[in-house]
Amino acid sequence: MTVPPDSSSANQMWGGRFSAGPDAIMQAINASIGFDQRLYAQDIAGSRAHAAMLAAQGIISSKDADAIGEGLLAILSEIEAGKFPFTPELEDIHLNIEARLTERIGEAGKRLHTGRSRNDQVAVDFRLWTRDQCDQAIAGLTGLMRAFLAQAEAGADWVMPGFTHLQTAQPVTWGHHMLAYVEMLARDRSRFEDARRRMNECPLGAAALAGTSFPIDRHATAKALGFDRPTANSLDSVSDRDFALEFLAAASICAMHLSRFAEELVIWSSAQFRFVRLSDKWTTGSSIMPQKKNPDAAELLRAKLGRILGATVALFTVMKGLALTYSKDMQEDKEQVFDAADSLILGLAAMTGMVSDMTANREVLAAAAASGFSTATDLADWLVRALGLPFREAHHVTGTLVAMAEKQGCDLPDLTLPQMQSVHPGVTDEVFGVLGVENSVRSRISYGGTAPDQVRAQVARWKAALG
Ligand code: ARG
Repeated sequence: MTVPPDSSSANQMWGGRFSAGPDAIMQAINASIGFDQRLYAQDIAGSRAHAAMLAAQGIISSKDADAIGEGLLAILSEIEAGKFPFTPELEDIHLNIEARLTERIGEAGKRLHTGRSRNDQVAVDFRLWTRDQCDQAIAGLTGLMRAFLAQAEAGADWVMPGFTHLQTAQPVTWGHHMLAYVEMLARDRSRFEDARRRMNECPLGAAALAGTSFPIDRHATAKALGFDRPTANSLDSVSDRDFALEFLAAASICAMHLSRFAEELVIWSSAQFRFVRLSDKWTTGSSIMPQKKNPDAAELLRAKLGRILGATVALFTVMKGLALTYSKDMQEDKEQVFDAADSLILGLAAMTGMVSDMTANREVLAAAAASGFSTATDLADWLVRALGLPFREAHHVTGTLVAMAEKQGCDLPDLTLPQMQSVHPGVTDEVFGVLGVENSVRSRISYGGTAPDQVRAQVARWKAALG
């Protein structure tokens, strides 16, 4: 005797055991279709690979597999045309698509779920989606690295103040500062590459948690979906969300870098600094103050880490303490990753635009580089080199000269030779050669230092690396 599913009261996918449908509030808290419909393409790809494998293994007929494959493609078009009837009664993207398939092709549709569970289904869908986001992040980062590199190449020898504690430290070059971000972004990129490599194992076929008694070929589905291999432990396969956490961790570090440069842009574009001019394309005006040009994109980018790190903390908190294997808690993973990925990809695009379109104010940078006794270290180093002073003594002599200049309201190169000799009699006029900012940066030739020649060498290295 066959018992027809009663779709009026209980869920049509598991109505057999149930005599009543869920409470409306239960449905509201349980359904994920509102957000996991974003996984439709991955869900269809996973199901197509699964159906083809089931037929190849003789588990379902080729006729049924063909009908399933075609039906799923038709559903794909339906979704992309905005014509798919998503329904919360069917909880999630997996059940929505499967039910629609059966509605379209009949009996064959009911065979798709053989040897599979929503637990391995959601694991594979979400991995495929996250893998794609890694690729997008890698591409976005490469574009942004190129933008910083172009700035570095143009301004390899432009001098600007280098800061520690946001206090003038030593003169550096614009190119050097830009290349600092290229280094950071390169590490970000390698983190996404690394995470991608590790996540590229296919959980499909782990079924609910224990594997399946059907003679499935997990290597075939892994290959069809572009994975390097199937995952090796079915329990781990359905309970693991490391791939999402790694993506979020890499995104957080990357967003932190974007936020730091955003902060520099906010400072640099202010009327008090005027180090850079941001393009009109990346700024906004004020509705009341006509003079204003606000760095809104930079400010928003500075804030994005809040969301991305928030998502990271949220997912760690969801996962901690979950006994193996799948628990419904894990349905709370997707919105976090979706939001973080959207924020990151948009942020990378916005930062790339801002960096490409910003103009460094060379004269202002040079003038700022020369103020704040920025060549005091050069002076101390000269006292060591030319007069043989121990560095600690040279530091003390220089400090006295800085105090003298400060008292007179002038910079170090404005002190006269007799004034300098009153602090240390050995000083000669050769000292003035090291007090200029151009000479200062030119002298920093140690590997990775700020000298224009070093900057040009690093630009060449990165250009070759980025192709
Ligand atoms: N919507 C679910 C999720 O996102 C799919 C997996 C459901 N599995 C289950 N056994 N209820 O996690």
